[in-house]
Amino acid sequence: MPKIKVALIGVGNCASAFVQGLQYYGKLEKEEDSVGLRNPQLGGLSPKDIQVVAAFDVDDRKVGKDLAEAIFAAPNNAPKVTDVAATDITVNKGPALDGIGKSTKNVVQMSNAPDSNVVKILKAAKAEIVINLLPSGATMASQYYAEQALAAGCAFVNATPNFIASDATWAKRFEEAGLPLAGDDLIDQVGSTALHKTLLKLLSMNGVKITETYQLDVGGGTESLDTMDRTRDAKRAIKTQSVASSLPYKAEVVAGSTDYVDFLQNKRDSYFWISGVYFCNAPMQIDLKFSTVDAPNAGSVLFDVVRAMKIALRKKLKGAIVPVCAYAFKRPPAQALWNARQMLPLETAEETFKCFTVEST
Ligand SMILES: NC(=O)c1ccc[n+]([C@@H]2O[C@H](COP(=O)([O-])OP(=O)(O)OC[C@H]3O[C@@H](n4cnc5c(N)ncnc54)[C@H](O)[C@@H]3O)[C@@H](O)[C@H]2O)c1
Repeated sequence: MPKIKVALIGVGNCASAFVQGLQYYGKLEKEEDSVGLRNPQLGGLSPKDIQVVAAFDVDDRKVGKDLAEAIFAAPNNAPKVTDVAATDITVNKGPALDGIGKSTKNVVQMSNAPDSNVVKILKAAKAEIVINLLPSGATMASQYYAEQALAAGCAFVNATPNFIASDATWAKRFEEAGLPLAGDDLIDQVGSTALHKTLLKLLSMNGVKITETYQLDVGGGTESLDTMDRTRDAKRAIKTQSVASSLPYKAEVVAGSTDYVDFLQNKRDSYFWISGVYFCNAPMQIDLKFSTVDAPNAGSVLFDVVRAMKIALRKKLKGAIVPVCAYAFKRPPAQALWNARQMLPLETAEETFKCFTVEST
């Protein structure tokens, strides 16, 4: 079976978890040992079929290094779960553009190496799918790499909250180029927003009237630092709207306020406060802490997206691939679909996605 050839844009914490995950699950003999994967098999494809063929970054501690070394270089702090053998993939220097923000400029050490010819490298490596794992505030850089993917004839996966798949102009450009596109803003495997919505839905279904609720996220990865000065408000608006939509009435809702605590490393703590009343106005309160490690939270979903995009390529599908976007991304294309996604039971998106992959086997 030929491999699914992917290129990674940004060798940060997510990329580290992705590459380690390929090694970790690649070593397993039996599929039943694949604990932690939502779909060990998808459309006849397993994670063993995924191969990284190119990578780009701007940090001096990563550029020019083998990918196996770069994923463990500072400031990455995703936990090491496995040794990764040398890959023979050297991390290339990409143009910095707006990749580094005000808060992260003291954390990232900018490489002086000349910018590489991204299209040429993607073509030479025969990359089929480009995965955008740039910091969330890197709007121009995300657009630059979407442009490079178009020019190199690659599918594009936008894991960042920048608007590419949900932007009609970009979706049309991929459609015209006959290439599939998926995004925007990857959904975590065990996410705080999904947990918050599920709790609220359960309580309101049982007749509880929620009066107020908030959710605060604290993380120690570079991405949390970047969010602080570049995407905090946007993220808070998206998450608050999403959480509020799980209640059939108006309540005081705040979700997605983020802060950075460096000693947390790649851990993320989410705090939930829920207050309401039930029978005869009796009060109830939930005060909850939910702890995860950030980067591995993207791994299983990315494995699913990559395999689904390979299926899309095989089927010669083009433009934004709606079942993939609705299943794996917080902001799928088309405002109508995005609004629906806020209300849509998660199971419906899952079902549509499974049909998409099963039909293709
Ligand atoms: N669970 C998750 O980790 C998760 C979930 C959903 C979405 N995301 C999104 O995935 C993206 C990556 O997250 P992360 O935690 O890996 O971030 P990170 O900050 O650890 O990694 C970003 C990498 O991009 C590099 N970079 C910056 N500018 C660049 C440029 N112009 N060209 C090439 N490389 C450049 C940085 O040096 C760094 O290595 C973010 O946008 C985040 O919002 C992550």
